[in-house]
Amino acid sequence: MLRAVYPGSFDPVTNGHIDIMERCSEFVDTLIVAVLDNPDKKSLFTVEERVNQLKETTKHIPNVEVRSFYGLLVDFCRQVDAKLVIRGLRAVTDFEYEFKMALANRKLNREIETIFISSSTNNMFISSSSIKEMAMFGGSVEDMVPKYIKDCLDVKFKNREEN
Ligand code: PNS
Repeated sequence: MLRAVYPGSFDPVTNGHIDIMERCSEFVDTLIVAVLDNPDKKSLFTVEERVNQLKETTKHIPNVEVRSFYGLLVDFCRQVDAKLVIRGLRAVTDFEYEFKMALANRKLNREIETIFISSSTNNMFISSSSIKEMAMFGGSVEDMVPKYIKDCLDVKFKNREEN
């Protein structure tokens, strides 16, 4: 049984992430989507919100499990009995960071392999940070995130305006 972990901040999940999950779910038995719980990193959505958002937006992918993790990714992989890590690559600019992370993870645990999946061309420019910026200033993000996430962004920024 092939179990893989797809880790990330997912603040928030985008259509680019969903595309990677849909494609991976075709060749692994279980895809564990792992949301990093990092109290030192400022995020728009809490880890609980991000886990709920991922559960809502991956309902159509039967072999996806959503969890959060704290600490090292390799330790989480061991806990969930997975030796494969999936990361999406949008452009060459992602490569250096991703390559270093894959090497660091392998240094920490030689059994962990990282597989890179290239993003689909229509998602190449989408990132969670650009989504947040666009949504904050009233730009349309409709084609870049699931409808559920668009609604969450609307609520978040509306509440901020009111406070
Ligand atoms: O979506 P992101 O922010 O690019 O995801 C980064 C993530 C969560 C995959 C990465 O920061 C991570 O794995 N953090 C856990 C800490 C860790 O294991 N560090 C050692 C490898 S660099």
